[in-house]
Amino acid sequence: MSLNRSDTGGTHMRSNKQVVVVLGATGVVGSGAVRRYLGEGATVVAVSRSAPKLEALKKRLAAPHLLSAVGDFTSDDEAFKTRDAVAAVLGGQPIDHVLSSIGFVTVDQVASATPVATFRAALDGGLFNNFLAARAFLPALKTREGSSFTMVSGGLAHFPPPDPKLWMGTVKNAAVNALTFGLASETLKDQVRVNTVCIHFSVALPGEKKNHFGMPAEKDSDALAPIFPAVARGLGRGQVICLNTWADVERIAQ
Ligand SMILES: NC(=O)c1ccc[n+]([C@@H]2O[C@H](COP(=O)([O-])OP(=O)(O)OC[C@H]3O[C@@H](n4cnc5c(N)ncnc54)[C@H](OP(=O)(O)O)[C@@H]3O)[C@@H](O)[C@H]2O)c1
Repeated sequence: MSLNRSDTGGTHMRSNKQVVVVLGATGVVGSGAVRRYLGEGATVVAVSRSAPKLEALKKRLAAPHLLSAVGDFTSDDEAFKTRDAVAAVLGGQPIDHVLSSIGFVTVDQVASATPVATFRAALDGGLFNNFLAARAFLPALKTREGSSFTMVSGGLAHFPPPDPKLWMGTVKNAAVNALTFGLASETLKDQVRVNTVCIHFSVALPGEKKNHFGMPAEKDSDALAPIFPAVARGLGRGQVICLNTWADVERIAQ
């Protein structure tokens, strides 16, 4: 197993009949991935905590056949309920790939002024929900040939944040990257490949020039989206795939 930060190193044969579950499907990154997978002919289950947001996504993507499930990852119970809701809409079809693009960067106070409850809540919303998603979905993926479980993090993981109030983003992203190694170690001999895509630049919604924090974004989530099928169908496992520039997306996704 390679645990270094490198690219995906090769691909499995591409099949359009795959079943993909996208967690955080209504978000900037997740919605681009949903659109991309649908365009490739995959069956996609979009998961969100909000039924109205899922309906809006379906309208926006004009994809009447997009499947969806409402669910959360706040506890084991909620995570397993969400997994069961996904299984129900799939009617027994096995899942090939799970993309977990849930959570966000919480901006609050500088570290020494932040109440511990705020920090805990930030990790609930950015780290523990990814962990609970893994608990819910990994067991079945372990025996599914060619399957993948991919998380999403951000480049804040790697350096002191430019604004000290972003420090929880640094911790959350670094922790998601570290979780990758824990899960990859567990699944070393299994079919499923666990990786994380660590994005070092801003990503906007299509048609926007800034991301949701107001940071200028050179490109949007549609431009980013090819990275996810490439990683899902690649051969890498246990990799934190750092996208330092948009050129890395093109290089890995080609
Ligand atoms: N956009 C960027 O510029 C950028 C740059 C670098 C890295 N990233 C990384 O990309 C990942 C996704 O970011 P994004 O920009 O797509 O964020 P986003 O637009 O806020 O989407 C995140 C999604 O996660 C879900 N979510 C939020 N909090 C949750 C919680 N507590 N429990 C369960 N689900 C929750 C939300 O879905 P529902 O409300 O529908 O449930 C939301 O749609 C993050 O790890 C982020 O750090 C983003």
